[in-house]
Amino acid sequence: MASQFDARGRLRHLVTLKDLSRAQLVELLDLADRFITPYGEFPARDPALAGRTVANLFFEPSTRTRASFELAARRLGADVLSLDVSTSSRAKGESLLDTIYTLQAMQVDVFVIRDAQSGVPAFICDHVAPHVAVLNAGESHLNHPTQGLLDVLTMRRHKGGFENLVVTIAGDIQHSRVARSAHHALKTLGIGELRLVAPAALAPDPDEFAGATLLDNIEAGVRDADVVMCLRIQRERMEVSRNPDPADFHREFGLTPERLALARPDAIVMHPGPMNRDVEIAGSVADSRQSVITEQVRNGVAVRMAVMQTVMETLHG
Ligand code: NCD
Repeated sequence: MASQFDARGRLRHLVTLKDLSRAQLVELLDLADRFITPYGEFPARDPALAGRTVANLFFEPSTRTRASFELAARRLGADVLSLDVSTSSRAKGESLLDTIYTLQAMQVDVFVIRDAQSGVPAFICDHVAPHVAVLNAGESHLNHPTQGLLDVLTMRRHKGGFENLVVTIAGDIQHSRVARSAHHALKTLGIGELRLVAPAALAPDPDEFAGATLLDNIEAGVRDADVVMCLRIQRERMEVSRNPDPADFHREFGLTPERLALARPDAIVMHPGPMNRDVEIAGSVADSRQSVITEQVRNGVAVRMAVMQTVMETLHG
């Protein structure tokens, strides 16, 4: 499999956060920080991708990630193509690689890919031309690297560092690429404590989350936490018979104001979206002053600008 790094160890694709060094993570976060401007001001712009073409290929539903990659590319000066996959030729049976080669012939420089199947971004990395970059925008339950980056950036902006931080991720951990990518980044950045809270049926294989504490009790998980992140039940990745009842789930695992009161008074509440209000998170908690959910979305554009600028710098110096 092609590496996401070039011969000099620089990032040329982004498939997973698993093997990024601490220095590489910090460099991306620092660059993203510089792309964040206050609400009401003009968003940051940079001509780093002027004349380049970015193609968004989302073979799974997306609101935030797709819009945010598109805005990030435009704010870097690129032409952007967001393929409507339901009407594209892949729906007519064209192979994914033929779609990639077709777009590459139109001089696409960056492919942004979301797919329900594991291994698709790495497979495309193996086949694109040497001047083309591939960015993973969500791969099955395994990787969602730009989400992981925006999550740790949001934590760092509020909490300063990671050494003494207690981060709790609660909900459907087993099917979550968001939890996996957050774990990859937090582990490398030296997190104080990572707690994962899930009912037994949605708990992950502990081997996949080395160093994290697995819990099945939300109160214990939230107590004295600095960051509480809630995750949606990812019904699309499980058999219908295994779907938990939403009301039962809320009663046993939902982040309610009472449960949030067990966390540190300055704890922040996060959610990658899309949210199911009053299932994994009470609507009032999502709208509370402790919630940084919309900030995560804003930071996501900055992170994607940072990633695109970084890989283009690797490829074209
Ligand atoms: C997540 C995803 O697609 O993995 N959403 C996102 O990208 N912001 C989480 C989810 O679908 O629950």
